[in-house]
Amino acid sequence: MKNWCQKDGQKPNEKYHYPQILLKNRKPDRILTLEEYRLDDGYAALEDTLKNLKPKEITQKIDEAGIRGRGGAGFPLGKKWLSIPDDAPFPRYFVVNCDEMEPGTFKDRVLLHTNPHNLIEAMIIAGYAISARKGFIFVRPSYETLSQILERELEIARQEGYLGENILGSGFSFDIVVHRSGGRYICGEATALLNAIQGKRPNPKQPPPYPTTRGMWDKPTVTNNVETIVWVPHVLRHGARWYKSLAATRTGEGTKLYCVSGKVNNPGCFELPMGTRLSEIIDVHAGGMIEGSEFKACIPGGASTRFLTRKYYDVEMDFDSFRMVGHRLGTAAIIVFDHKTCLVDATLNLMEFFARESCGWCTPCREGLPYICELLRKIENGDGKAEFVGILKEMSKFLWNSYCAFAPGAMSSLESLITYFEDEIFEHIWEKKCPFKV
Ligand SMILES: Cc1cc2nc3c(=O)[nH]c(=O)nc-3n(C[C@H](O)[C@H](O)[C@H](O)COP(=O)(O)O)c2cc1C
Ligand code: SF4
Repeated sequence: MKNWCQKDGQKPNEKYHYPQILLKNRKPDRILTLEEYRLDDGYAALEDTLKNLKPKEITQKIDEAGIRGRGGAGFPLGKKWLSIPDDAPFPRYFVVNCDEMEPGTFKDRVLLHTNPHNLIEAMIIAGYAISARKGFIFVRPSYETLSQILERELEIARQEGYLGENILGSGFSFDIVVHRSGGRYICGEATALLNAIQGKRPNPKQPPPYPTTRGMWDKPTVTNNVETIVWVPHVLRHGARWYKSLAATRTGEGTKLYCVSGKVNNPGCFELPMGTRLSEIIDVHAGGMIEGSEFKACIPGGASTRFLTRKYYDVEMDFDSFRMVGHRLGTAAIIVFDHKTCLVDATLNLMEFFARESCGWCTPCREGLPYICELLRKIENGDGKAEFVGILKEMSKFLWNSYCAFAPGAMSSLESLITYFEDEIFEHIWEKKCPFKV
């Protein structure tokens, strides 16, 4: 079998050839059709589940597998489902988060452009497991083609009896709506997202109550990332042991979609065992650094994670291995910077993104981010002063006093810039210009 990330004409390297589950049968120019998915046992898990399993049994099986949320936080999927109390009211809702506005992250788009029916099957099973009758897929507006693909494939699934009333004669009814996001990064935060679907202003909402007890329209609501939920039919078909065995490390589980961008030869989205080393991802799968470039640092898990330096080039990329070295795996979207890249400028770029995307609800985030941008811009343009560094240090701590996880996430690159590249900031200040600009 050709590894999908292998370029045409390239010889397969057995050592780095891993099972493809989520991106299996990926086509260069089109999605996998319902027929093709069924030939590969698609919807078999749904048929079996509806016939033979009670909702609680599904949740137990999913919990046993230990699937961890791929939306960034790594929260266990089974535990989230189990947190709906047995006597929780109806109706209940199941929501899939396909907002994917974290810079550097494009795995959910690749996944759904490969096999949308995997998601549809997973959502129906999830709906059955939590006794929901309605599901939503929340899609960022720049993924309009994807929204249209999903709507078309949902209709095909409806005609085949997989969606709607009395699915496959089981008595269970469930349907799915595609909801286009208004197009702000904060809409991807799970509680802001639920406000957005209800037609409210998408401000985050601090728990308690948790959405699994009081979510949309005050009813129990579960939200999962696309890459998390698509595992459900695979795990039900092959079991928890198989799922765990796919990982490269004991602390990992399953495979992971790693997105790589920046100064590499072969940027892309690679399905690899969870826990694959960063060095292997960059040097082998992403084709190594482009000629004349040396690895300086990377942002390993999307814009809200810290700069990771050469010291951890060999780190195993799973949630716990990352935590142990003081980093966060986030979405595992790796942006690679080389020795010619100015990290003050890169951080300014990220801060401008966060300042623009803040929902404006709380003062430290709303006022603090533009101020940080102003200081970084001055430093980058050669107008910086030494005391700015102290202020930036203070600010990177102060923004933790914000209402939601957005502002602490925004501070990851700034804090790590100061921790690992303080000399580079001072070089700008003493030389009164950016040392990287020719
Ligand atoms: C500012 C912000 C943006 C987020 N954007 C996304 C997103 O686009 N997609 C996503 O799945 N999770 C996103 N999250 C994480 C969600 O809040 C939530 O943890 C996730 O959707 C839960 O799914 P999981 O348990 O399957 O990972 C974001 C979080 C924050 C703080
Ligand atoms: S931290 Fe930022 S995004 Fe979060 S509530 Fe406050 S202003 Fe909004």
